[in-house]
Amino acid sequence: MAAVRTQPPSPAGGFMTDMYYVGVDGSATCIDVPDGESVMEAAVENGVEGIEADCGGAAICGTCHVVVDAEWFEHLDPPDSVERDMLYSVKHRAPHSRLSCQIRMRGAYEGLVVHIPESQR
Ligand code: FES
Repeated sequence: MAAVRTQPPSPAGGFMTDMYYVGVDGSATCIDVPDGESVMEAAVENGVEGIEADCGGAAICGTCHVVVDAEWFEHLDPPDSVERDMLYSVKHRAPHSRLSCQIRMRGAYEGLVVHIPESQR
């Protein structure tokens, strides 16, 4: 049986997916993100503290570094070689580190949790 989306369409005509940003202080911010938008773009548009995104999503600055919740990490599309190379240079790199500009939201990521690392403070 095919899965049925129960979320309302976004104003742009797509779907919206809830995700959570957990700050350095442990506080969580829930944002409804249009499918196809990156985790970085949603953070910047909504003023999430700690996501600078200096390169605008080109995977060359590392200022959008997040640590994906352990429960979620294996469910995301894996990083490509450009992202993996960039992740070697970020501070406070963790086993579940990702560049938030390289994670595109979609329905399957409903409830995704990412943590802002200490280095992004
Ligand atoms: Fe620069 Fe993601 S915005 S690496």
